Amino acid sequence: MSKIPVIIDCDPGCDDTLALMLANQIDMFDVLAVTTVAGNTTIDYTFRNGRNVMDYIGSEVPVYKGAEKPLLRELVTAAHIHGEDGMGGVVLPDSQKPAETEAAWDAIHRLALEHKGELVLIAVGPMTNVAIALSKYADMKDLIKHIVIMGGAAIGGNTTPCAEFNIFEDPEAAEMMFTSGIPVYMCGLDVTMESYLTPDEVAQLAALDSKEAKLFHGVVQKSLAFYTELLHRPGVAQHDPCAVIFAAYPELFKGEWCGLHVETKGKITAGKTVTDLYSDKQFDEKNAFVVTEVDREAFVKKVFELMSKY
Ligand code: BDR
Ligand code: CA
Repeated sequence: MSKIPVIIDCDPGCDDTLALMLANQIDMFDVLAVTTVAGNTTIDYTFRNGRNVMDYIGSEVPVYKGAEKPLLRELVTAAHIHGEDGMGGVVLPDSQKPAETEAAWDAIHRLALEHKGELVLIAVGPMTNVAIALSKYADMKDLIKHIVIMGGAAIGGNTTPCAEFNIFEDPEAAEMMFTSGIPVYMCGLDVTMESYLTPDEVAQLAALDSKEAKLFHGVVQKSLAFYTELLHRPGVAQHDPCAVIFAAYPELFKGEWCGLHVETKGKITAGKTVTDLYSDKQFDEKNAFVVTEVDREAFVKKVFELMSKY
């Protein structure tokens, strides 16, 4: 069976780190590149973290540096969940490989051309790099099979009552992506909050006998405390891993095509992903597949299966 060519655009990021570790063990993926964007922390950290994580897990996949700020807005980081450095305080050895100098959006376009029409883009940070690639290259929209994102929500938000972090960070970029004509599969809070790991499951995963399990243990601690102690949730949401697992195993999920736009103007509502899922008035295009349900047991089993391969 031919593999799915994949690029992972991310802002590592604690859950981004687990997403990268999982993607690295998915046999049906041919991971061509990791591209980094500012979001959870500054671009210098996300680029450094992306390079270090890929090195640590023994991957030769090149890592590219992308946007240092959202298209029109100032960067707002998420240090309360990911720490200042984006790794929750975990210190990895610095990658000794020469850093790639090609910009993230140029790498995305070049690889999309090479894999014309087959490339799947998994975007689990703010959509800035995707938007720059779309605006710089007119043929971009015809080269990508589909985009799977972690971002948004049909209902509610986490950064504001309306907006999920990745969309809140760069709503203009997200709207460009959603209206580009490329089909977008949206793993938003509706499903990522249900794709959680309980404290027991975290402990079992962290106890696996590998250095990757130790890394997982390190990066999950801050968010585990945040979700269980502060939010009183049954476990720690696996936002970015959810998008990676969906891209490979969509049969574990349910969802629906709908019309979707991003609110970019509202003072309170900026960054809201507005869907016509429950509405009489329907948008003209069904441009997004909103993932609404996960078989959590099967999701957790898959995470264990992939992490046990290390
Ligand atoms: C998303 O925001 C980031 O903090 C996480 O890495 C994830 O991509 C969750 O809202
Ligand atoms: Ca992320």
